[in-house]
Amino acid sequence: MFPQNVFPDTTTVDSQGRLVIGGCNTLDLVSEYGTPLYILDEQTLRARCRSYIQEFRQRRKECDVYYACKAYINPALAKIFDEEGMGLDVVSGGELATAQAAGFPLERVTFHGNNKTPVELEFAVSNGIGTVAVDSFYELDLLNRIAAEAGKVQNIIIRVSPGVDPHTHVYTTTGTLDSKFGFAIQTGHAAQAVRQALKASNLNLLGLHFHLGSPIFELEPYRVATDLVLRWAAQFREDGLELKEFSPGGGFAIAYTRDDAPPEIGDYAEAIISTMTATCSDLGMEIPNLTVEPGRSIIGPAGVALYQIGAIKDIPGVRKYVSVDGGMGDNIRPALYQAVYEVVAAGKVNDAPTERVTIAGKYCESGDLLASDIMMPELVAGDVLAIPAAGAYCPSMASNYNLNPRPPMVLVNNGQSRLIRRRESYQDMMHCDVI
Ligand code: LLP
Repeated sequence: MFPQNVFPDTTTVDSQGRLVIGGCNTLDLVSEYGTPLYILDEQTLRARCRSYIQEFRQRRKECDVYYACKAYINPALAKIFDEEGMGLDVVSGGELATAQAAGFPLERVTFHGNNKTPVELEFAVSNGIGTVAVDSFYELDLLNRIAAEAGKVQNIIIRVSPGVDPHTHVYTTTGTLDSKFGFAIQTGHAAQAVRQALKASNLNLLGLHFHLGSPIFELEPYRVATDLVLRWAAQFREDGLELKEFSPGGGFAIAYTRDDAPPEIGDYAEAIISTMTATCSDLGMEIPNLTVEPGRSIIGPAGVALYQIGAIKDIPGVRKYVSVDGGMGDNIRPALYQAVYEVVAAGKVNDAPTERVTIAGKYCESGDLLASDIMMPELVAGDVLAIPAAGAYCPSMASNYNLNPRPPMVLVNNGQSRLIRRRESYQDMMHCDVI
């Protein structure tokens, strides 16, 4: 059975069993742009933005949706997010510069990160970034000084670590005590940070932020942490903290395999907003403006990676390796997090699976496997494989390992395709080298 749930909304299969996305035949896209290739379905991408805004705002007007750029950003996409009325969450000067290059209004941008450099903070402050999510005492001092030098008062939120485990991979868990991110509530550091921020001459403390991890398939961690942080925040009313902004971060899950059933966007919205409303009413506190920061769940389902098969190695009684022309350089997630993906033969979608194979990449690492021991139809060199749910944290974590050029990105919509990032050339990769 074709795993429709992990493919973009517009995905169909034509009469010859070929995969069609955004009205474009994937095999034609491969002929035009080559492989490896990442395609993004514009309709799915925009629909996800609209669903987030609608599901949150229909429950409470005072909600904003900030796209987490770390999932993947480039100027063309920043323009789309602007058109859709989203804000942006950036975590580096590079992501901020990308937003700026696209003409994105920087007042709708929040700067995150556990160790923003002085150069990055100066760049952000001098260009009028909306909010900085302060993550350390070092940053609290530094940012106050930078804002003073620029003659500005910078809006900030404080990132706290509520000590709630969202049960994700240990590498993507962030809101627990033993984490490099945020001020821990448990140790008293978060309280100290709030008091210090309230006294800082050139910082304006708007509210609080936490991010538990990613991807979070449960609703309960959001409920528990939202309630906990709001109750904890109430104690600072006497110190002058008026909670205007509240953010439970991102981390909303998507389906990677046919068996995954993540909560709907509306389920997350309901869990967070109903908790926020009930807790604030219990505390006699005004309900703050809510900002959520989905990354994966906006762009993940819109993206599909396309590869071409080359070498096939059958070790009788052991394993059959089918190698493709990409791998851990464009998708490190299987190697890094043991992430599991569906794989579909883009030209043989209706062919019955007949053999067990392992899909290997072309990188010089035995761990460079994209999918292990999966059932596929008979495959030969030249066949195209599609890996869905690949829009988030694949191209954005891509590297030039083994000096392989990073793949191009193509937007598909209504039968049209548009290149939004060309394939790197060997010259591109040597561009910064000095002989
Ligand atoms: N907000 C903050 C403060 C974050 O740290 C993150 C993700 C997000 C929002 C967005 O989370 P999302 O909605 O995309 O789950 N490379 C890993 C994921 C790392 C996520 C880091 N922070 C992966 O490939 O699974």
